[in-house]
Amino acid sequence: MTGSGPGPAGLRGKLTNYGDADFALFLRKAFIKGAGYTDDALDRTVVGIVDTGSGFNPCHGNMPQLIEAVKRGVLLAGGLPVEFPTISLHESFSQPTSMYLRNLMSMDTEEMLRALPVDSVVLIGGCDKTVPAQLMGAASAGLPAITLVTGSMLTGSHRGTRVGACTDCRGFWGKYRGGEIDDAEIAEVNPSLVGSVGTCSVAGTASTMACIAEAAGVALPGSATPPAVTADRMRIAELTGRRATEIAEENLTIDKILTEEAFENALRVLLAVGGSTNGIVHLAAVAGRLGFTLDLDRFDAMSRQTPVLVNLKPAGTHYMEDLHKAGGVPRLLAELRDLLNLDAPTITGRTIGEELAAAPAPFPQEVIRPRTDPIYPSGSIAVLRGNLAPAGAVIKQAAADQNLLEHRGRAVVFENSKDMALRIDGEDLDVEPDDVLVLKNIGPVGAPGMPEAGYIPIPRKLARRGVKDMVRISDGRMSGTAGGTIVLHVSPEAAIGGPLKHVRDGDTIRLSVADRIVELEVSDEELRRRAAAPTEIPTPPSGSGRGYRRLYLEQVTQAEEGCDFRFLQAETRRGSVPREH
Ligand code: FES
Ligand code: MG
Repeated sequence: MTGSGPGPAGLRGKLTNYGDADFALFLRKAFIKGAGYTDDALDRTVVGIVDTGSGFNPCHGNMPQLIEAVKRGVLLAGGLPVEFPTISLHESFSQPTSMYLRNLMSMDTEEMLRALPVDSVVLIGGCDKTVPAQLMGAASAGLPAITLVTGSMLTGSHRGTRVGACTDCRGFWGKYRGGEIDDAEIAEVNPSLVGSVGTCSVAGTASTMACIAEAAGVALPGSATPPAVTADRMRIAELTGRRATEIAEENLTIDKILTEEAFENALRVLLAVGGSTNGIVHLAAVAGRLGFTLDLDRFDAMSRQTPVLVNLKPAGTHYMEDLHKAGGVPRLLAELRDLLNLDAPTITGRTIGEELAAAPAPFPQEVIRPRTDPIYPSGSIAVLRGNLAPAGAVIKQAAADQNLLEHRGRAVVFENSKDMALRIDGEDLDVEPDDVLVLKNIGPVGAPGMPEAGYIPIPRKLARRGVKDMVRISDGRMSGTAGGTIVLHVSPEAAIGGPLKHVRDGDTIRLSVADRIVELEVSDEELRRRAAAPTEIPTPPSGSGRGYRRLYLEQVTQAEEGCDFRFLQAETRRGSVPREH
């Protein structure tokens, strides 16, 4: 039987020991044989497969087929595949927010990986928060693990125009709000936006995390981009199952892959795909599980040297299926070669440089640009500081109105999402196109769960006048599928007393992306006066005193720390990423 020496423990692993280990194993075998297994099947390397399918998660709608293909790969490699469920999170079915639930999913994943006798694990995720949650959990559990993403959805078509979630969902809704399209057309486009099961088809968080996982080496080369319903996706699943068996035998634990070099490669690719700002929060959280902190200023420096090469919506024009046909992440990595840590290990057992050397020859295509002709020259995501965001804020300048990146304007303040919903479309709202919209209390603690409400809508009366973009500032997040001159992740957040809390209507705010500044032009003295003034203590929403919400409110960290729970971070600090160069 395997498991006596070094190498996979198989079914002998992680026995619940009541004082008689042999009896515990005897019981375990008796129970699992109730499912019809023979000793031959059980006497093998056990590969766990995390099933995150759910009727509420169309982004994971190909889960049954993926699991079948992964199992085939495991069996071909001589292992025993065993699937088990964890929580599944979909962006539209995760009240109050999927970010609020991400850490719960990571805890579920971590503890199941600790509990079950798996020698390695295939983490099948896809929708935004699921891949980071799984990497966080697996990093803490510390076993050999490989990521398999579900893959992107297909695009649809509306009156001859190609459409995909969810940049186009927002685009059409914006037109509808502005009166450009009518009730009939908005109803007509609805079923076309999501062409199949799978994750959002643009450079949203799901696509970003898929590319990041591949770049970080925790997923197979070429595995990020095949759409969910394709043969390529199923082949990747089979290969992932095969490799999962081997990494168990090699004891290639996740910490050996997720090194500082790997995090730097992941951050580089996040920037080069024009990826979601959420990717920064998630990488900070995963890094934190391994003892690394994300250094935002060094990330900004990295951003300044990194061009956006991938022509994907919202910064560009294409969709994930096009990126796949153009060669996917391997082709992108080849373009970025001189900016990567080529000796970073990957899940294949080879370095990323070795994988690149073996990658298919380049061919002409127009989705992944050459370095000489980038989509955006550098700094797609900029890190801002200033008296409004002492611990940092970010802006995806590549998806912003370039004329607004240097701007000074009058603050129009909304105290929270509810206040905004009540007033933003009012005819009496005192707002002009040059104003700066400020939304407070949508941070990690504020909402809670840091909703993607940072994409503050253009007030209806301005939208009707044709205003498409304004400077907007909040302590919340924004979907990677959205665009605009939008300052996000302002830290510390308003709800814990950050300076954003003290902004008032009519204050002047200065944004200078060139200088990396977001500033409230109010004297320090006045700010101190405002901070000292007695404020109404908000009544905590009901339910805050118990259960997961209580844990969340007590433990959640700010955006720059990944919004992870403090008690889930690694106990030993190992350094910062990116490293100082
Ligand atoms: Fe699942 Fe966009 S909603 S990836
Ligand atoms: Mg999203």
